[in-house]
Amino acid sequence: MKAKTRFYCKECGNEALRWMGQCPACGSWDSFVEQPLKSSGKKRDNSAVVSRKTAERLSELDAENEVRFSTGMKELDRVLGGGVVNGSLILVGGAPGIGKSTLLLQICGELERQNRILYVSGEESARQIKLRADRLGVGNGNIYLLSETDIAGILDTVDELKPNILIVDSIQTLYSEDNNSAPGSIGQVKECTSQLMRLAKDTGTTVFVIGHVNKEGAIAGPRVLEHMVDCVLYFEGMNSAPYRILRAVKNRFGSTNEIGVFEMRDKGLEQVENPSAVLLAGRPVNTPGTCVACVMEGTRPILAEVQALLTTSSYNLPRRNSNGIEFNRAMLLLAVLEKRGGLRVGGCDAYINVIGGLDLDETAADLAVVLAVASSWLNRPIDDDIVAFGEVGLSGELRAVNNTDQRLAEAARLGFKRCVIPQSQKNFVVPRDLEVIRAKNIISAIEMVLGNN
Ligand code: TYD
Ligand code: MG
Repeated sequence: MKAKTRFYCKECGNEALRWMGQCPACGSWDSFVEQPLKSSGKKRDNSAVVSRKTAERLSELDAENEVRFSTGMKELDRVLGGGVVNGSLILVGGAPGIGKSTLLLQICGELERQNRILYVSGEESARQIKLRADRLGVGNGNIYLLSETDIAGILDTVDELKPNILIVDSIQTLYSEDNNSAPGSIGQVKECTSQLMRLAKDTGTTVFVIGHVNKEGAIAGPRVLEHMVDCVLYFEGMNSAPYRILRAVKNRFGSTNEIGVFEMRDKGLEQVENPSAVLLAGRPVNTPGTCVACVMEGTRPILAEVQALLTTSSYNLPRRNSNGIEFNRAMLLLAVLEKRGGLRVGGCDAYINVIGGLDLDETAADLAVVLAVASSWLNRPIDDDIVAFGEVGLSGELRAVNNTDQRLAEAARLGFKRCVIPQSQKNFVVPRDLEVIRAKNIISAIEMVLGNN
């Protein structure tokens, strides 16, 4: 006889036939919970209702079918790869209080002109939502509110109302009668998401689902949910309080490199169209240990400040810390500086930080890291009108990166006067008022920017 239950890891959603003390996929202890399996009888019922699909010839399919529409917020459209695809399911994750409900209610204001929207909330009462909507100036006729947590009730309302857009706040509050575990558990979250996904694909309704993140910063059962939905967006705070970053971690209809930047104001979220200026605000001048990098976040160049602090270590094993630059990359750059740059940083405690809570995962940020570290070590400041970008190789050479024109233009736009780039960088246009300094390796870059050792 087949097993009637399955076990799931609460942290990562890994599925197993029997209980285990430690999850083999994510390594967490005591995270397995038991979930009864749906009876196969019910499954057969369902499939009888849904009409049988026929296979279509690929060459005869119309690619135009994938219609996108704008949310009215350029930053959100950008993260989604140029707007929302009709009939897709988008999961928006984030910590409580970060502004997920606000973001979705605000886009309702834009979308209600052409669409009928059903906003389902299992968290707040209709009155609370009304108060917030009034504050945001949203709700002129085409938004319907429903306080419901039973997925069957939601699907019935969708059937009656036939909205083009469904918003569910949040997936953790929903439950399905088909599944007898508690709301918010892996089994329920999975079951409700799959029913919403079916709704989106069968009726062409665009569904936005809000998901809370657990203490590790992942949406409960992330692997389960991530592979089920079309897009996963994360809404995160930046270090400087009112700013928020929206990023895509999965997108079936676009790239996942794009970020959107927002500011939380008293009248809701406002788009930040000039993130570089926000990230560079309050930059210390004439202080050693900081350098401005230019990285591409998707299709947009962004300037960010990299800081480094080197101190003599009082430990046998120096302390190392890196925020915003991947730790191993930062250690590699320190090693290159020691061996090829001639700076004895090996015995120092080293702290590296990117201002604003941005993760710079592009290798183009290497040169700025190296210059910030060198500046701290030499205790000499880098002029505040200098930007640097370029990849650093293991022999200390600087290697060309792409999108030179866009990076240079962004530096010029923000009033920088000089830009340090790899000598091997080719075919670019130098903007007016910007001087390009070309360096072959890290030694010459350090010399040009910080003077001789
Ligand atoms: P909310 O959207 O409720 O967060 P989430 O749904 O992610 O839990 O946002 C809550 C926070 O946003 C709350 O601390 C108040 C703040 N806020 C503003 O500052 N201005 C506003 O106009 C709104 C609606 C909320
Ligand atoms: Mg909320």
